[in-house]
Amino acid sequence: MIESGDRVPLLDVEHLTMRFGGLVAVNDLAFQASDREITAIIGPNGAGKTTVFNCLTGFYKPTVGRLTLRRDGTEFYLEQMDGFRIAREAGVARTFQNIRLFPRMSVLENLMVAQHNTLMRASGFSLAGLLGLPRYTRAEREALDLARFWLDRVNLTDRADWDAGNLPYGAQRRLEIARAMCTRPVLLCLDEPAAGLNARESYELNELLIDIRDRIGIGVLLIEHDMSVVMQISDHVIVLDYGRKISDGDPETVRNDPAVIRAYLGTEEEEELPEEVAEDLPPEMVRALRSFEDRPHEEDGH
Ligand SMILES: Nc1ncnc2c1ncn2[C@@H]1O[C@H](COP(=O)(O)OP(=O)(O)O)[C@@H](O)[C@H]1O
Ligand SMILES: [Mg+2]
Repeated sequence: MIESGDRVPLLDVEHLTMRFGGLVAVNDLAFQASDREITAIIGPNGAGKTTVFNCLTGFYKPTVGRLTLRRDGTEFYLEQMDGFRIAREAGVARTFQNIRLFPRMSVLENLMVAQHNTLMRASGFSLAGLLGLPRYTRAEREALDLARFWLDRVNLTDRADWDAGNLPYGAQRRLEIARAMCTRPVLLCLDEPAAGLNARESYELNELLIDIRDRIGIGVLLIEHDMSVVMQISDHVIVLDYGRKISDGDPETVRNDPAVIRAYLGTEEEEELPEEVAEDLPPEMVRALRSFEDRPHEEDGH
């Protein structure tokens, strides 16, 4: 972990607003993510988390806002770039809340396709290039090496020839991360990567993300629903509720923030914290939430 004084700003989000007709999905949001840190974005369903990712990766053009990514001394204004350039030039890669792989391509092919841009550049965009240029051969070898490295890192080497669509769910999740890493990003954005994983897979995912942060040395932006994952591996946590930031800080500060506790307690109708929700939360938060249940309800005009 890096001391806060050593933080290297990687992403700077200012005044981000995304409207869909009358609905304000993200409302004047500001936050920063640093290099070599895991920054988590958490919040109840519908809080606007995926919308933030869609703005960062060029799927949506923000209604308002400046999204600055710093790479090698250059500033990229992501809100002005299309998704292709955001991935290739700014170096932002993502995974999806619902897995998106090429299901009928092999595991290895999925990782090679991710490097298509690099390979095409090396070919000089010509057939002659594809057939014989030494720099293409070299680039292809490097692409294969990178694919092999990530296959190994996510434990899929022995299934390299499988159709991606035939992998079990947890393995598809890992392949998606490997595919994103094969684009050599400086910022990796993961949308609920732990969703649907069993305890062992979830543990391995944590190890993988810590490894990506510390050994590959890039920034990770993580949308997560499971509070225990967030508390274990994040350096910095941002909490969204109804499109607004309600808390921002280190995990310890955020988990004790009354605004966060209130947001996680849910709507006014919900009188008690259900057991299946409590199981996913850190014990301190469950205690805090249960203590709230004993108090009279506030009206907070959402
Ligand atoms: N393309 C869209 N068109 C209209 N509304 C959308 C669109 N994408 C998201 N929303 C709305 O924006 C709000 C935030 O959604 P989302 O970012 O998916 O939340 P989260 O990922 O935090 O669960 C929701 O009310 C959702 O219905
Ligand atoms: Mg979402």
